[in-house]
Amino acid sequence: MKVGILGTGDVGRTLGTAFLELGHKVRMGARARGNEKAATWVKSSGPQASEGSFADAATFGELLVLATLGSSNESAIQLAGPKSFEGKILLDTTNPLDFSKGFPPSLSVGHTDSGGEQVQRLLPGTRVVKVFNTVGHAHMFRPDFPGGPPDMFLCGNDDAAKKTVGELLGQFGWGVIDLGGIEGSRLLEPLCMVWVLHGARSGSWNHAFKMLRRSGAQ
Ligand SMILES: NC(=O)c1ccc[n+]([C@@H]2O[C@H](COP(=O)([O-])OP(=O)(O)OC[C@H]3O[C@@H](n4cnc5c(N)ncnc54)[C@H](OP(=O)(O)O)[C@@H]3O)[C@@H](O)[C@H]2O)c1
Repeated sequence: MKVGILGTGDVGRTLGTAFLELGHKVRMGARARGNEKAATWVKSSGPQASEGSFADAATFGELLVLATLGSSNESAIQLAGPKSFEGKILLDTTNPLDFSKGFPPSLSVGHTDSGGEQVQRLLPGTRVVKVFNTVGHAHMFRPDFPGGPPDMFLCGNDDAAKKTVGELLGQFGWGVIDLGGIEGSRLLEPLCMVWVLHGARSGSWNHAFKMLRRSGAQ
């Protein structure tokens, strides 16, 4: 499969490498072609990796990943060209973080709206799945924790898209918890803050969420 990744940061590069390891072709996009981080990543990633603009990545990918600074999502999508997203699955990994008052950041939207819903409204014909936003990039691929595979929460309006993403998550090494429609982003984006605050308070970034269950009646 051809994967287009919008974003050259830690998430874009981590997921890009993960998709390559799983045998896919990946094009990483930035605001301009020849982005230094993307070019360095391509150099170290082999012949199935390429880079270009956001538009190049969006045109190339059969499956797309949005891994941009949350406050820049709209700008990145406009630069990429919304037509290129039409009908495709878009993994929205972003969080609407506001760093204006320093670290830890706050969320710039919440309760009655979310970054995930904003992305879905910008791209009404695209099958947006919010995913990967509740864990640090270092643990996104083949997470290795003593308690077994952690769970990745996802949400989105298209069940078939979520099934495809769920299968991918299985290959990445995750359990999957589907929270329903894209409005679930109103909960998943604050959950990112839980992950961040625990990291900031503990000084360690090696944690991930897992839901414990038992069978049988209460
Ligand atoms: N880092 C993590 O561990 C982690 C974990 C979970 C979720 N997330 C979320 O995932 C997203 C990506 O995070 P990240 O740390 O990998 O990268 P990031 O530094 O948040 O974003 C980097 C990307 O944003 C683009 N960008 C920045 N300003 C822009 C603008 N004005 N217009 C258009 N695009 C712009 C950059 O474009 P250029 O390439 O052109 O510079 C770059 O591709 C974020 O929303 C973050 O909250 C991060």
